[in-house]
Amino acid sequence: EYIIQNEQLLPKAEASINFEDRGYYFGDGIYEVIKVYHGQPFAMDHHLDRLRSSAEKLEIPLPFEEKKMIDLLMELLEKNKVMNGLVYFQVTRGVEPRNHLYTRNSTAVFTAFTQPAQNLEETQKNGVDVWLTDDIRWLRCDIKTINLLGNVMVKREAADQNCQEAILHRSGTITEGSSSNLFLVKDKVLYTHPATNLILNGITRQLVIELAEQHQYSVVEEPFPVEVLEHADEAFITSSSVEITPIKSVKGQLSTTFDVGPVTKDLQAKFKDILP
Ligand code: PDD
Repeated sequence: EYIIQNEQLLPKAEASINFEDRGYYFGDGIYEVIKVYHGQPFAMDHHLDRLRSSAEKLEIPLPFEEKKMIDLLMELLEKNKVMNGLVYFQVTRGVEPRNHLYTRNSTAVFTAFTQPAQNLEETQKNGVDVWLTDDIRWLRCDIKTINLLGNVMVKREAADQNCQEAILHRSGTITEGSSSNLFLVKDKVLYTHPATNLILNGITRQLVIELAEQHQYSVVEEPFPVEVLEHADEAFITSSSVEITPIKSVKGQLSTTFDVGPVTKDLQAKFKDILP
């Protein structure tokens, strides 16, 4: 199994990370996760655009040209013979003696690895249970940073309640999942939080909105309160790794259940159609 470290493909065992990498001290870095279907990375352009946008927001220098990044990632997929899986890549600000204040002349560190894809058959058909809890994250959730403590804490909390995902709210307004975006369906209209600083604008979210609109569904991107969960006909989460996964129950600060409904099923089918 190979990984990428800077511009090199190396066997995983040969990789070594510098002790003074700011990724370690400060979580000072950004990342992307791309799903791979039949050896083809899906929506790679969107992910690279978002990586560039995260980099700009944090003044993290990208280590090399996009073309080079694509070539390296494609080479990694081939080397690891990934047919259906994920490719993870991250850029940290680089190596400097520990100091909160970053200079603007560090050399970014690029790393990437691949993973097999989860089997989504059961959860896509029957849905998952989700845990409603407080959004304890910071106010720049639009940046895809490797600094994910708020996300990992609520994911653990959800798992301890036998739920597969945490759905978050900020003072009663639903934002998103710990590693996914949330959609509700009511009378064939889709509702989701707008792409502000309070959520990560998921690539899957963007594609689902596009698909829905192409197929004559209305999509309302507005904040809504947790109570709306009780009135929705259907609910689902989206991400590169889980695609469109229905929610079958909400537990925690509010309890409700959903059937896997016709709009979710229709969008799942239409989403499958755009995959490689
Ligand atoms: N997470 N919101 C959050 C907080 C996320 O971490 C993710 C993705 C999404 C969905 O984004 P996209 O559709 O672009 O995958 C929304 C990835 C998969 C992860 O951290 O593993």
